[in-house]
Amino acid sequence: MFLISNREMLLACAEAGILGAMPSLNARTAEAFEADLQWLRSKTDKPFAINVTIGLTDPERRERDVELCIEYGVPVMITSYGNPTEIVKRVHPKGMTVFHDVIRLDHGLKAQGAGVDAIIAVSQGAGGHAGTVNPYALIPYLRSQLDVPVIGAGCISGGEQVAAALALGAELAYMGTRFIASTECAASDAYKQLIVDSTHDDIVYTDQISGVNANFIKSTIPTDADPARPQAAKRWRDIWSAGQGVDTIHEIKPIGEIVEEVVREYHDAVKRLTS
Ligand SMILES: Cc1cc2nc3c(=O)[nH]c(=O)nc-3n(C[C@H](O)[C@H](O)[C@H](O)COP(=O)(O)O)c2cc1C
Repeated sequence: MFLISNREMLLACAEAGILGAMPSLNARTAEAFEADLQWLRSKTDKPFAINVTIGLTDPERRERDVELCIEYGVPVMITSYGNPTEIVKRVHPKGMTVFHDVIRLDHGLKAQGAGVDAIIAVSQGAGGHAGTVNPYALIPYLRSQLDVPVIGAGCISGGEQVAAALALGAELAYMGTRFIASTECAASDAYKQLIVDSTHDDIVYTDQISGVNANFIKSTIPTDADPARPQAAKRWRDIWSAGQGVDTIHEIKPIGEIVEEVVREYHDAVKRLTS
């Protein structure tokens, strides 16, 4: 998650047995990104993922970040906002895995053609730059049209939704908003509390903030009377993004506890369905 995912979250995810991800751009410079990779490598042997926002990253910086991922043997790259072909070509020979974000089949087909290992189906209601297709339609549709595995994303905030995503044919569930309300997340306390206090009625889908449709917490969007629009990063710093999955987030707690709860909810849901 742009600006708010950090190395502490990746470490906590790794220790809890899930795959944590953060955009390389969350480090201000390539040097700071390298320091993050060194820190993670010194703390854990378990896997983590780095997101490269292809079209949103200065090409020189992107090049350096991919090189660093190769140098530090980052197990999984998550590519978004662009064509993953070059990254796949460079990292596959090193044994690295690539997941690619899509909201539509045509992008999924292109990414599959580029050789990615799995597609992330970013559905309606997701935090950040969300799609417009309901997960009930998007996950089974992409699964039926693609040969590569599909990962479900969007409004998966608890174990029941993980079970639902798997029932729809997803191989993995990808969660963002839920982890904003984690102790480790770099979001401010006020942002975390707003995640807990919000319902889907508080979320608005608009292209007015960054030029691309994304979901934001309505009360953080400036009114028309506000002065000139700030730079993109500042906009994301002051205007808080979250998905409709805020409904089932009730507490700020450590990632380890969130994962335990999600796993428990998942098993309870499966038991209910099969008993
Ligand atoms: C605050 C925020 C920032 C995000 N930034 C990025 C980003 O930089 N790159 C990216 O690929 N996805 C980004 N996402 C999307 C997430 O990776 C993920 O697809 C999404 O959060 C899943 O939906 P959910 O929030 O409903 O769980 C962001 C999401 C949020 C909430």
